[in-house]
Amino acid sequence: MGFYESRILPRLLNCCMSMKPIAEERAKLVPRARGKVLEIGIGSGLNLPHYGPGVESVTGVDPSLELGEMARKRAAETVFPVYFKPVSGESLPLEDASFDCAVITWTLCTIPDPSAALREVRRVLKPGAELLFVEHGKAPDPGVVKWQDRLNRFWPKVAGGCNLNRKMDEIIQGSGFRIEELDASYRPGLRPMTYFYLGMARPL
Ligand SMILES: C[S@@+](CC[C@H](N)C(=O)[O-])C[C@H]1O[C@@H](n2cnc3c(N)ncnc32)[C@H](O)[C@@H]1O
Repeated sequence: MGFYESRILPRLLNCCMSMKPIAEERAKLVPRARGKVLEIGIGSGLNLPHYGPGVESVTGVDPSLELGEMARKRAAETVFPVYFKPVSGESLPLEDASFDCAVITWTLCTIPDPSAALREVRRVLKPGAELLFVEHGKAPDPGVVKWQDRLNRFWPKVAGGCNLNRKMDEIIQGSGFRIEELDASYRPGLRPMTYFYLGMARPL
């Protein structure tokens, strides 16, 4: 791993993901989590302050050790235990049907095989449990999609593997979940980066 990936990118991601419009989306979604929570792509732990009193524990999965260090500092402030699994979401060293809720925020864009990760989430969730998600992805307008496809030729290289043009609702529904709530719309900012999918899905 080069200097950019190990030293600059983690700080850049922590800074960009701390921005106010992003924090507002977290505040809508994350307080809904309950019980034993699995967070895929916990990153620098920016969701941790948003978890409410109904949370028993959070298990955070993320292969980035640099972001994990930042998350551990935020975990020191929580009233619930936070367990870290520094592994890839596509293969979870966790028991079947052992979580009450899963949270994924702006991570399905980056996981190399998001469908495999979602199938793993489905395996470890209890029947009827909620998957809470907010992601950016493919826009509905052909003009915006053209830009998303063009930018995506280099975007993953500078943004830690992030893709701009994944159709998140199709990926989630194609991986064994039924989407029960979805707010898919442009948020303030550059359109190729700000078509967000926020919602809740349950295992089929
Ligand atoms: C844009 S950041 C979002 C971080 C965090 N979810 C947030 O909301 O601030 C994308 C995250 O996906 C993580 N990631 C990349 N590949 C992954 C994988 N295979 N499994 C799980 N997480 C992964 C990255 O390390 C990074 O923390």
